[in-house]
Amino acid sequence: MSNDITPVRPREITLRFLAEPTDVNFGGKVHGGAVMKWIDQAGYACAVGWSGFYCVTVYIGGIRFYKPIFIGQIVEVNAMVVHTGNSSMHIAIDVSATEPKTGARQRTTRCLIVFVAVDNAGDTVKVPAWTPVGDDDKRFEQYAIHMAALRKEQEDELQATETTPPV
Ligand SMILES: CC(C)(COP(=O)(O)OP(=O)(O)OC[C@H]1O[C@@H](n2cnc3c(N)ncnc32)[C@H](O)[C@@H]1OP(=O)(O)O)[C@@H](O)C(=O)NCCC(=O)NCCS
Repeated sequence: MSNDITPVRPREITLRFLAEPTDVNFGGKVHGGAVMKWIDQAGYACAVGWSGFYCVTVYIGGIRFYKPIFIGQIVEVNAMVVHTGNSSMHIAIDVSATEPKTGARQRTTRCLIVFVAVDNAGDTVKVPAWTPVGDDDKRFEQYAIHMAALRKEQEDELQATETTPPV
């Protein structure tokens, strides 16, 4: 009997851990920068798992902090591929916090993050395509495509403000 395990390409992952005292901000709650780091880590693990390549963050957008996270709460960071391009993976992130004494759980943060798969030379590589099946998946993909169009507009506007080209 073989011990080989067939590799799976998970579309989504969830990181779960306790918010620690070292994550605190000056107001006594979890620092926004800590949440952004967790978002990047979950997105990275999701992108690498989906593509099978090393991945880099190219864009984090539409981040919304709905509720604070308190030290000692159980944090869940869910990352899910919602759209793929040639080398890019658009990943929806959903962060929630649960109070362990009561089990009360709240969504705290959402955002969309884009990773690109690269090879050892740092050149972009093609990633497996994600094909949405259900209505929810199709809506998510449309949202990701719409956001990409908005980003393009914003970047074109920003570029028009530059008097000297970037180095
Ligand atoms: C990732 C990188 C290699 C891509 O190089 P590039 O010359 O921009 O390559 P491309 O123009 O072909 O774009 C690659 C992909 O990024 C996507 N992309 C570019 N700008 C984007 C933006 N603002 N938002 C979302 N996606 C973007 C493109 O649409 C393209 O996707 P596709 O292949 O699915 O069509 C380069 O931008 C880079 O090294 N960036 C720095 C990454 C980094 O250091 N991150 C932080 C630490 S991990």
